[in-house]
Amino acid sequence: MRKVLLLTAALCLVLAGSAWSFHDEGVAHCNGCHTMHNSQDNAPVDADNAAGNDYLLVDETASDVCLGCHATGLGAVFATDPLTPAPLKGGGNFIFLLEDNLNDGHAGGDPANWIPGDAAGHNLNAPGYGLSADLTNTQAPGGAFNSSWLGCSSCHDPHGNTNFRMLYGAGDVQDGLATFTNAAPEASGLSIFFGSESPSSHTAYASGMSEWCANCHGDFHNTTYPSVLKHPTGVAIGPAIASAYNAYNGTSNIGGGDPALAYLPEVPFEDADTSYTTSSTQGPTSSSKVMCLTCHRAHATSAPDAGRWDFSVTGLAEDGHESGSYAIPNPYDEFQRSLCNKCHVKDANDALVDYTP
Ligand code: HEC
Ligand code: HEC
Ligand code: HEC
Ligand code: HEC
Ligand code: HEC
Ligand code: HEC
Repeated sequence: MRKVLLLTAALCLVLAGSAWSFHDEGVAHCNGCHTMHNSQDNAPVDADNAAGNDYLLVDETASDVCLGCHATGLGAVFATDPLTPAPLKGGGNFIFLLEDNLNDGHAGGDPANWIPGDAAGHNLNAPGYGLSADLTNTQAPGGAFNSSWLGCSSCHDPHGNTNFRMLYGAGDVQDGLATFTNAAPEASGLSIFFGSESPSSHTAYASGMSEWCANCHGDFHNTTYPSVLKHPTGVAIGPAIASAYNAYNGTSNIGGGDPALAYLPEVPFEDADTSYTTSSTQGPTSSSKVMCLTCHRAHATSAPDAGRWDFSVTGLAEDGHESGSYAIPNPYDEFQRSLCNKCHVKDANDALVDYTP
């Protein structure tokens, strides 16, 4: 493992000299990820696995290979400590999968009620980083994709493509383990080299995210509400919810928002209009869509179900208290209630009671 990290770190340094490119929206040089003989300087490239592996990879699993470059740099999707995650770009950090408890609901600190880190999001088979397949879900809820298959290369094409974040489109994934029926989402993201998510610097989701998640999750939350009784997703929010979102500026200031500044990266929506960019701050129109990543992050968070905020706390100020896990930053003030209110404003008239641990 250590040997591979050094090797990939060296590669990253070499890459630094060449305009930081590796995948180049296409297939990178093969030996960034593969080794033909599992031997260099007469020693195994993957020292922990002297026998090598199925795909002649430089590390034990596909996800270990990717994390060799992307754990703490180049987007830093893992980081080193669940209490000090790397800056958010959009996807979120997989490090929270190593948390012992994520439960910030009532009595969540009682060991009998602990929700272990495997609930933080998508579990990956990456033994070099202490990660393994999900302990609870054996398949994608709503679909048939096996949890034991899940890794970086289930979603991102290791051989590169021109899609947003090199996500797989329709067709075979992982050498034919599964077949996606829906295209990759249209979106644009932040540079993976610097910066972090903020109201004026964030992924701009254009279209197709819910359909893309459905490649593995089926129609899990639904496009045809109310004929199917699940929260709508991938559908236009309509005029009433658009104006609620635009007016909402937190539990303490429900009607005082400015539509030009209403965009909240913690509660994003999809819109294909070109006025929505990675730096735009305006809120939605009636045709903007609620989608899977309105409420979830694609990788993992320090809340159960990869929630963009913790769905089980009353006030966001409670996050992290019961569980001791990382408190997801609160975009408003200390009186803030659930961010479902950005669209639904059910916190009108709520007493401004701050939480005291
Ligand atoms: C960014 C890492 C990466 C790079 C670069 C890369 N591969 Fe791969 N390759 C993988 C992974 C991971 C798999 C295992 C299958 C999977 O998880 O999708 C794989 C599988 C394969 C396979 C067998 C299965 C399949 O999908 O066809 C072949 C053949 C292959 N790679 C050839 C190449 C060649 C040739 C190059 C250089 C032109 C290359 N790879 C560059 C990561 C990479
Ligand atoms: C040798 C180091 C290295 C390895 C190994 C590696 N990457 Fe990358 N990756 C990079 C670099 C450098 C960039 C930025 C430049 C580019 O896209 O070529 C990048 C960019 C990316 C991006 C962002 C592209 C964008 O839209 O900005 C994704 C997603 C990604 N890699 C996924 C993967 C996955 C999945 C694997 C494993 C199959 C992997 N990488 C393995 C170095 C690496
Ligand atoms: C390649 C298949 C695949 C894709 C694509 C995919 N998922 Fe998943 N997802 C899974 C599997 C398998 C599980 C169950 C294993 C686990 O929880 O780690 C899962 C679990 C989840 C969970 C529950 C996590 C937990 O532990 O409770 C959420 C939430 C989720 N996915 C949301 C999404 C969203 C949102 C998208 C689109 C951005 C998405 N998924 C795309 C395969 C996928
Ligand atoms: C379930 C699907 C899925 C899996 C598994 C997955 N990704 Fe992603 N990844 C995404 C999506 C979707 C985005 C775009 C998220 C956004 O902008 O909201 C993304 C974004 C990224 C980015 C851009 C930076 C960021 O944080 O947004 C990088 C780099 C990346 N992924 C690398 C990886 C690596 C490395 C792995 C494995 C350790 C991995 N991904 C596993 C779906 C996935
Ligand atoms: C309006 C917010 C919202 C949207 C939109 C949304 N989810 Fe969820 N999701 C939740 C909440 C809250 C939970 C926690 C369980 C519950 O309340 O049913 C959850 C739970 C999940 C789980 C875990 C289920 C389990 O059995 O453990 C998965 C998987 C999931 N969502 C996937 C998705 C996918 C895929 C989409 C898009 C098609 C999506 N979600 C859209 C809020 C949302
Ligand atoms: C981006 C905006 C958005 C967010 C955030 C959002 N919703 Fe919704 N929600 C909608 C839309 C659009 C509908 C469709 C019904 C409508 O137009 O009133 C809906 C419908 C509902 C309904 C059915 C109400 C009815 O009128 O029949 C419930 C309950 C609900 N949402 C709960 C939640 C919860 C709980 C959360 C947070 C986990 C949440 N929503 C987050 C946009 C949103």
